[in-house]
Amino acid sequence: MSALHSVPALLSRTPHDWLVSAPGRVNIIGEHVDYCDGFVLPAAISLRTWMSGAHRPDSLIVVETEDGLRAEMTADAIPQAGPEKWANYLRGVLAGCLEAGLTVPGMEVRIASTLPQGGGLASSAALTVAFATLLEAAAGRMLDPDGKARICQEAESRYAGVPSGCMDQLASVHGRAGHALLIDCRSRSVEPVPLHGVSLLIINSGVRHDLADGAYATRRAETEEAAEVLGVPALRDAGEPLLINHAADLSPVLFQRARHVIGECARTLACAAAMKSGDWPRAGALMNGSHVSLRDDFEVSSPELDLIAAHAQQIPGVHGCRMTGGGFGGCCVALVQTEQAGEAARSLETFCRARLGPGAGVLLTEAADGAAPIVSVPA
Ligand code: GLA
Repeated sequence: MSALHSVPALLSRTPHDWLVSAPGRVNIIGEHVDYCDGFVLPAAISLRTWMSGAHRPDSLIVVETEDGLRAEMTADAIPQAGPEKWANYLRGVLAGCLEAGLTVPGMEVRIASTLPQGGGLASSAALTVAFATLLEAAAGRMLDPDGKARICQEAESRYAGVPSGCMDQLASVHGRAGHALLIDCRSRSVEPVPLHGVSLLIINSGVRHDLADGAYATRRAETEEAAEVLGVPALRDAGEPLLINHAADLSPVLFQRARHVIGECARTLACAAAMKSGDWPRAGALMNGSHVSLRDDFEVSSPELDLIAAHAQQIPGVHGCRMTGGGFGGCCVALVQTEQAGEAARSLETFCRARLGPGAGVLLTEAADGAAPIVSVPA
């Protein structure tokens, strides 16, 4: 089991003028529906990406990661996308912040993260939101939070080639300790939902996913095609009766994709209602239903995620367990009664060691606050 909630030593040791962090997120339910204008229920988590910035006398931004990757950009010029994908996320954020009117100084930036990369916990949103937060601190001006989330989402689509929805960036910006967030992805309204008496366990399958490999974009295109056949602006506007009426007009695959999105939007609203009334068994049952739909209709699960979910669902105190995030590898999330969380985590850890590869295991985390500057020392 691993957990790291405090400032990584690498950054606290490096002299800096600003220090910020932005969280990853775990999605409790509402998967592959954000780009259909649907409803999602993520929580920001204590696993985060940290960034420090130190003034430079020129206008260069020189970025270095804890793994020794380096990238350079000019603080006062809209950057072009380059060959390294990780740096393009940052270039996209710089572009968006300059377009939004921030005046950014040259600086040395260091990055460290406690989030697994490619684990379905929104490591790329944590990267972009942390950088936007650093640029705000360095510019001495805050962006409007929704605008900041949009800049980060656009950085992914325009600069890194990932046509993601809005969930990850909104969760990383708006996270609230001890709460999940019910997000309406059309209006972008965010409602905190308390997680009283329950804990979230994240179980990493150890299999990395890569959203840029095309499958994510294909799923998104399929949902758009299905919406067009059903005659609605987005699948959020469709219900089961409409789907049944048009069954003959949709290919079997498009029918399955639409059935997932329509069912998942309903499950998410029902889950938020169950959580508000403290009906955790009902919330958990809806999560289990979400896993089946993602596995069979949306076809984004993996054998490892299926094994973890099936095992976790049998453990005493676990209300529900499902794959979380984009899928094709990554993590599962379990909703567990807090007093039984330690025992459940040990059982899952033993299971991972016996049945899965070396990268598999339980990540200790909790629902956490959104992105924030930690220290801001004016120059
Ligand atoms: C990724 C994307 C999100 C969302 C999820 C699936 O995390 O970045 O926008 O679409 O996949 O729910």
